[in-house]
Amino acid sequence: MSPGPPPTRDEWTTLFSAHLEQLMLRTTTVLENAAFSGLLLHSGTEHYVFRDDFTYPFKVHATFKQWAPISAVPDCFVYVDPDRDRPLLIFHQPQDFWHRAAPVPDTYWSDSFEIRVATDRASARGHLPHDLSRVAFIGEAFPELTTFGVGSVNPQYLLAALDYPRARKSPYELACLREANRLGALGHQAAAVAFAAGASEFEIALAFMGATGQREKELPYNPIIALNEAGSVLHYQMQQTQRPSVRHSFLIDAGCEFAGYASDITRTYSYSDPDFRALIGAFDDLQQALCGEVRAGVDWPDIHQRSHVAIAGWLRDAGLVRTDPQETVDSGLSAVFYPHGIGHLLGLQVHDAGGTLGGPDGHEIPRPPRHPTLRLTRRLEAGFVVTMEPGVYFIRQLLDQARASPLGKHIEWSRVAQLERFGGIRIEDDLAVTDAGCENLTRAAFSTTIAPGA
Ligand code: GLY
Ligand code: MN
Ligand code: MN
Repeated sequence: MSPGPPPTRDEWTTLFSAHLEQLMLRTTTVLENAAFSGLLLHSGTEHYVFRDDFTYPFKVHATFKQWAPISAVPDCFVYVDPDRDRPLLIFHQPQDFWHRAAPVPDTYWSDSFEIRVATDRASARGHLPHDLSRVAFIGEAFPELTTFGVGSVNPQYLLAALDYPRARKSPYELACLREANRLGALGHQAAAVAFAAGASEFEIALAFMGATGQREKELPYNPIIALNEAGSVLHYQMQQTQRPSVRHSFLIDAGCEFAGYASDITRTYSYSDPDFRALIGAFDDLQQALCGEVRAGVDWPDIHQRSHVAIAGWLRDAGLVRTDPQETVDSGLSAVFYPHGIGHLLGLQVHDAGGTLGGPDGHEIPRPPRHPTLRLTRRLEAGFVVTMEPGVYFIRQLLDQARASPLGKHIEWSRVAQLERFGGIRIEDDLAVTDAGCENLTRAAFSTTIAPGA
């Protein structure tokens, strides 16, 4: 399905209003059921480094930015009371001549709020009703909160009731996720060009950020930019400044943020080796076949299980294992090469909340015992956004364990020795689930984005 052109400002306003109305409706029900009169959401606190006057990079809390798309301002509050016309946004503008205060929002969503400005938390309290005894606070508690008089701080049942429906994205949220993918695709294309031109990991990271216009602290996660065997490290973080003397492969897992919503995209490239290029091509076919299985009603752990069988077939075709696919899965051999889950919910957080919730009451759907790293155990519904990210890696620690176990005799070690310099392959797209199938947000973004330098 084609996403069409990005919305105009008026369209964003209409989309956001409908999103907020829907959020308000379901929050009203949750509050009534829990006998709360309102909700107080905090954007978060800046934290200082121990014995220093510099702060760690600041991240707004997801529950806050679902209401107000503010991504970089600490100590803002959203006060939600179903009896009010509009939610109240208390916007933080400190009196601080060392830093530039963020301007009061004037954008497609700001008219949806009553906005007041506060210079600190104590003055923020002054904008709130006198009696907050039936209000639940959500956020990281700060010292002054004890004087706010809120009824409850982060009640677990309320968090679950709010997290559970977050999996189903509104049309506004889907538009944000499309935009996050469009930005991500721009970055990926610049990164691929930099890799082909001989750049270091650090230089590739700069190319990604240059093309997306997002600094590292603004990205939803630290980009994973791995050359050669570093691709075997699942969340590789080094970003070497040295260009390697030989160049085999490039694995990039990097996304962007738009209005608080994340993309999460992985691609793998062969520099010049046709064998590895063909293996990536076959792996891409496998990933696309798995995307083809995604639709409302499908149980995600089933997809995960089938991804193991598909990868076991790829391992055999690649000459890495000697056993049949089902045997490769049942013996645990596929997990030696593929030790993570097939994907997760995506949205305000990269690993979005509620992946293992069985209902708004907060009961859990346990992870399959043999797949303890699976982050999503729910049955898919239309409106869910998930990642599809099969991977195979040559991880020294897991290979050494396998070699010392009965699994070792089923592995073609000479083929491992040929391929381990490439690190691994992961291909990851973001999918919006529909009743009939899914919209591949990432492929659509790649196909409509013009490659820099092309
Ligand atoms: N980028 C982290 C992940 O794919 O889950
Ligand atoms: Mn990823
Ligand atoms: Mn992911």
